[in-house]
Amino acid sequence: MTSPVPISTLSNSLKQTSLTTSPNAVSTSPTTSYLDQYRPRTKSITKSTKTLKPFSTGDIKILLLENVNQTAIDIFGAQGYQVEFHKTSLGEEELIEKIKDVHAIGIRSKTKLTANVLKHAKNLLVIGCFCIGTNQVDLEYAAKAGIAVFNSPFSNSRSVAELVICEIIALSRQLGDRSMELHNGVWNKVSAKCWEIRGKTLGIVGYGHIGSQLSVLAEAFGMNVIYYDVLMIMALGTAKQVSSLNELLAKSDFVTLHVPETPETKNMISTPQLATMKDGAYLLNNARGTVVDIPALIDALKVGKLAGAALDVYPHEPAKNGPLFNNELNEWTSELQSLKNVILTPHIGGSTEEAQSAIGVEVGTALTSYINEGSSIGAVNFPEVSLRGLDLDQENVVRVLYIHQNVPGVLRTVNEILSSYNIEKQFSDSRGDIAYLMADISGVNLQEIKSLYEKLENTPYKIITRLLY
Ligand SMILES: NC(=O)c1ccc[n+]([C@@H]2O[C@H](COP(=O)([O-])OP(=O)(O)OC[C@H]3O[C@@H](n4cnc5c(N)ncnc54)[C@H](O)[C@@H]3O)[C@@H](O)[C@H]2O)c1
Repeated sequence: MTSPVPISTLSNSLKQTSLTTSPNAVSTSPTTSYLDQYRPRTKSITKSTKTLKPFSTGDIKILLLENVNQTAIDIFGAQGYQVEFHKTSLGEEELIEKIKDVHAIGIRSKTKLTANVLKHAKNLLVIGCFCIGTNQVDLEYAAKAGIAVFNSPFSNSRSVAELVICEIIALSRQLGDRSMELHNGVWNKVSAKCWEIRGKTLGIVGYGHIGSQLSVLAEAFGMNVIYYDVLMIMALGTAKQVSSLNELLAKSDFVTLHVPETPETKNMISTPQLATMKDGAYLLNNARGTVVDIPALIDALKVGKLAGAALDVYPHEPAKNGPLFNNELNEWTSELQSLKNVILTPHIGGSTEEAQSAIGVEVGTALTSYINEGSSIGAVNFPEVSLRGLDLDQENVVRVLYIHQNVPGVLRTVNEILSSYNIEKQFSDSRGDIAYLMADISGVNLQEIKSLYEKLENTPYKIITRLLY
């Protein structure tokens, strides 16, 4: 097991790189850096900065599919965008027809934005996935076409943390079994091996968005909280970080997992780790199905080593609702279902109305910020670039947004074009094959914008040029 690395040793490289956390280079998450976890992912649209107008795009058209939350529709409506809303997903042919002239599209998990669909999207600037996952989108194709993709990985953290609190109490009072018995007419009033959670130790593995939120809730219930994380993270309340997973396992009455799915977390809890846990402890997994070796957990429950478990996630999960959770899906399913004091839920940790509404706000704001100001902070497939807003009284300033292939010499060509103006600020970054430049230039006569636009459009490695003024 790796031990935590102090934040101070990491500070210099945080902005540029995905964080590696130990000499063994354990990646904390495939897509997020430490800074991503703690800074706001999207800028708010404040009234104190100048509202910019697009030079060449005309009215912004947005296609929203799959009943995207009302909060997002309100955000787009307030910007004056033309919104076309559909409750369901669209078949490929209809999608291709609709996507042809929109500037943005909002989807959830069912709409497949393949290369074949995206190649018809002539005006598309940005895709909003109003969900956690983004594997329904061909991210690489989108990046190469200069289309930024945003999602919402953290809007449901509170919902998951609340579910875990519920599960801790339910396991400790054998609530699932009592309820099931009474549904079958059996009155079974027992207090043996039923406990209060006050004064018990909760061990949180992964002290990120969910783990840290949970820490605060658990302390309010009088629990002692310890946590293990590959990063050295400041404790909330009186929680204490421990230096190894084994230490956490040996000290906790409840062990709850909140780590990402990575090669390092695959089967992180297996036979040796279960053996290290206290006799009669409980295990909760609301993270990802691959983190727990379920046959090993079944063995530990059968011999009474553990007093119960709550699972919300599984190595294989059905793609739709229905009677599909069976041995064909995972060969140990019926064995798991037969065990006492095991709570099984269908990946509902983040599934609340509040989370859906927060996702609408987060992705809606990210899309608006990208369209109106060019900020790509939080994009999953794209260089993350942002510039502070223009002051209200700034005249004759143009914001240049220039997405290009990441090849040598492009910036020299672009800067030659911009050099007749005063470059107030400029920032560019690259990711893989594409790069993104943002610059605010002043002293631009509005009549010159068209020729500036054409010059940038005619550069050899350009993907998309946008000018805002
Ligand atoms: N059940 C659900 O519906 C649901 C909903 C949302 C998120 N999730 C899952 O919950 C998990 C946590 O989400 P989050 O938003 O808190 O993520 P996060 O990125 O904010 O936090 C993850 C934490 O785990 C730590 N970590 C990474 N590798 C580790 C390792 N090997 N050992 C110890 N710590 C490690 C990271 O440093 C980080 O602090 C993810 O797997 C996510 O997919 C599930």
